[in-house]
Amino acid sequence: MSIPAITLNTGATIPQVGLGTWPLDDAQAADAVAAGIEVGYRHIDTATKYGNESGVGEGIRRSGIAREELFVTTKLDGQFQGEDRAIEGMRAALERLGTSYVDLLLIHWPLPQRDEYVSTWRTFEKLHTDGLARAIGVSNFKSAHLTRLLAETDVVPAVNQIQIDPAITRLEQRAYDDAHGIVTQSWSPLGGGSGVRSLLGSPVIVEVAERLGRTPAQIVLRWHVQQGLVVIPKSSDPARLAQNLDLFSFELSPDDMASIATLDEGPDAGVDSDSTGH
Ligand code: A2P
Repeated sequence: MSIPAITLNTGATIPQVGLGTWPLDDAQAADAVAAGIEVGYRHIDTATKYGNESGVGEGIRRSGIAREELFVTTKLDGQFQGEDRAIEGMRAALERLGTSYVDLLLIHWPLPQRDEYVSTWRTFEKLHTDGLARAIGVSNFKSAHLTRLLAETDVVPAVNQIQIDPAITRLEQRAYDDAHGIVTQSWSPLGGGSGVRSLLGSPVIVEVAERLGRTPAQIVLRWHVQQGLVVIPKSSDPARLAQNLDLFSFELSPDDMASIATLDEGPDAGVDSDSTGH
């Protein structure tokens, strides 16, 4: 299966569909990553906070696929913010992953109350210059946080990974990211955790899925990729892993997109990163 690639502001490309790994433990992540690579995933998303980087590394080794064929993302959480702490965080993450570089390193949360994301970003710029992170980006950043980075630092984030699904559309944030050449990635693209059943079971999604002969998850993931978003659905089920990659041989019509747009819960839906994170 051929997965389209999106070009980052570094010139590198990122496969538009990746494998999410939260909340898998090491053993589950190793199995999911090996199974995912086998069915065609070449983009894997983890984070130090998930506690499964060793498992992700194990799954990559088990797959037998060459490192340079893969796009690997990790994220450093609050304990690695400020005063060059990200250097040690990156070193330990690379050791757990068993690789000498990541393709993308993200600040996991802005934690604006700590006010350390700008100094952390300068450390990320060093990690990028040193080749340990081929691209650097952020997660859960709002426009105000990005505006500070753009004003006070040198490297424009390659990616902003935020919570997006048909109920949590983040239209303004996506427009901001687009205007600055920042690729938006959707975390929990299926609605995640407890929400997943209600989104995938919603009559609008089920109606489109039945009409097109696809699963509700494929309809929701197609909604993302058709808008140029990069998605990282998590599954540990081999059949779902394959299904979640199979998004490029059908299309949602403008009418389908309009029906799905009725699920939008407005600009305040979803996690508020000014008051959440770690
Ligand atoms: P499972 O791992 O049992 O497949 P998100 O990536 O939005 O956080 O969603 C992850 C959740 O969605 C997990 O509970 C996962 O369960 C479930 N999921 C992943 N793919 C599918 C699919 N194709 N159909 C139904 N549920 C799915």
